[in-house]
Amino acid sequence: MLAYLDHQATTPCDPAVVVAMAPWWTEQFANPASRLHRPGLLAAAAVDQARAQILGHLGLAAGDPNGQPNGDRWGDPISDAAGNPSGDFTGDRAGARLIFTSGATEANNLALKGLAEAELAAGGSRRQFVTLATEHRAVLDPLRYLARHGFQLTELPVGGDGLVDLGQLEAALGPETLVVSVMAANNEIGVLQPLAAIGSLCRQRAIPFHCDGAQAVGHIALNPAELGIDLLSLSGHKLYGPKGIGALAISRPLALAPQLHGGGQQGGLRAGTLPVPLIVGLAAAMELAQADRLEREQRLGTLREQLWQGLEALGGIRRNGAASPRLAHNLNVCVDGVEGGALHRALRRQLAVSGGSACSSGEPSHVLAALGLSRLEAAASIRFGLGRSTSATEIEQAIAAVAEALSQLRAPRG
Ligand SMILES: Cc1ncc(COP(=O)(O)O)c(C=O)c1O
Repeated sequence: MLAYLDHQATTPCDPAVVVAMAPWWTEQFANPASRLHRPGLLAAAAVDQARAQILGHLGLAAGDPNGQPNGDRWGDPISDAAGNPSGDFTGDRAGARLIFTSGATEANNLALKGLAEAELAAGGSRRQFVTLATEHRAVLDPLRYLARHGFQLTELPVGGDGLVDLGQLEAALGPETLVVSVMAANNEIGVLQPLAAIGSLCRQRAIPFHCDGAQAVGHIALNPAELGIDLLSLSGHKLYGPKGIGALAISRPLALAPQLHGGGQQGGLRAGTLPVPLIVGLAAAMELAQADRLEREQRLGTLREQLWQGLEALGGIRRNGAASPRLAHNLNVCVDGVEGGALHRALRRQLAVSGGSACSSGEPSHVLAALGLSRLEAAASIRFGLGRSTSATEIEQAIAAVAEALSQLRAPRG
């Protein structure tokens, strides 16, 4: 049987999440913006509850000084339905907010382009974005887009371990810095960036800190307020929730311009009818992730070490990125002496894993390139993403599959 070891690409939607979503597709299908009837009010209450639950899991519970203000329904339209970039909350709406989006890509776009446009609208002069060369394309591409429209982009290199150099980051910051965007956990090599230190550098300078938490939320402890993260992107399908839902958690008041204009939902910051079943599913997935996170981290960390030891024993296999700090369920290795395409073709009958090329484009991974790997080394790399259902048998299967591929592909030593 095929062993699915690609949980950084996506996770299966947990059956309990599917059950939690079920009534919201059929019996309770009303639009949460329909406040004149009971079904609509019930849908709105479900959204409010899900939002409070998710904020709670992020340590931003209602009642907290950084939490959702009492009595304020963030889902309500406010007066900028005309689409002016006035969906900000620099005014009297202090506290945390959670804006539902279609996923982390949209949350990143809202955070980065939203800050840029709000700065322009306010007549501000900050134009510089600071990020890492190893960010996901869902951060790099909006920033490169902004760079083509008058903003400046500083893409900092990382060390051979994939980690930011804090001295370099500090040196890059200045009065013109509009935001620092650094991911929590890398989607290819799983390394964890020093968020608390980055948050503190940003706070000292009153620079907003955006963090793409798509691979981290639900997998590691992540409290944005404690870490100094102002804007946190997350995604349902990376944490055993449904595809098509994510969120931007905003832990302190910041001016953001909406990127989707329309009916004024979500305080005018993100128009569009709220997908109640997906929102309920995201909250249920967060709940489950919170419940088994520590046990999962420990179990998958042990399995990941078994996998690494088994692969290392085959010889000529190197780990890409720091061994630690790293997601417990990620391993990325470079295999010497084989051609990448042939390696992945040999593995795919037995394993669902990812290679060292970015998504479907076939380009060599910019992450592995930033670590100093050559094109050929990146192509001959394998990302293993373990998950909730991963068993010791699958780990043995993975080691055996790589061993078999190597025996076929490596030229016999003479
Ligand atoms: C770090 C990171 N950011 C953003 C994304 C995009 O997330 P979504 O699929 O929810 O748009 C991904 C998904 O691969 C990711 O790994």
